[in-house]
Amino acid sequence: MPYLSIAVGELQTNAYVFYHAASRGCLVIDPGAEGEKIIARIDGEKLLPRAVVLTHGHADHVGAVSALIARFRIPLWVHEADADLMRGPANREFAAMFGVGLPPAAGRLLADGDTLAVDDLALRVIHSPGHTPGSILLHGDGLLFTGDTLFKDDVGRTDLPGGDEAELRRSLAKIKLLPPLTVILPGHGPSSVLEQELRSNPYL
Ligand SMILES: [Fe+2]
Repeated sequence: MPYLSIAVGELQTNAYVFYHAASRGCLVIDPGAEGEKIIARIDGEKLLPRAVVLTHGHADHVGAVSALIARFRIPLWVHEADADLMRGPANREFAAMFGVGLPPAAGRLLADGDTLAVDDLALRVIHSPGHTPGSILLHGDGLLFTGDTLFKDDVGRTDLPGGDEAELRRSLAKIKLLPPLTVILPGHGPSSVLEQELRSNPYL
């Protein structure tokens, strides 16, 4: 499978690198902290980052965005509904708690249905509000990057600012429609497969 998974920071956020095996082009997803560690993996695999993409704007998913942007001179992409939250006062406090910085303003605002291409590979943006208003799923090549919308046997909390339990339920319903063998790659904790989650995850 064409991705790297790197657990970073105090909350062990899963940073992912989705890459094209031949061209080495890649997207860096949720670089939450420990920029040097992520950069070392990218350099070690001789990958060529094209952009940083966020599944949502929370501080534990954005802490190393600035380091990656500085090193690779790439843009930051985030859903339009999390662009303000990402740089807002609540997130600033949250970031200070983890000793990380906030990212610069996004270079591209994403919307449902957008396609993020890496040569002839692509991830489709599925808007999945609930954990935050601008949470997204990234789906492609048999993979689903779920951020904090869906975890193995669990879902993301909806009690933080902008969270909405009813919206989260509607977002989970979109996941159920995907092919059962889709690999689930959450923002925290172990990976899974959709058919397994349909059996064991009480929220599905
Ligand atoms: Fe989160």
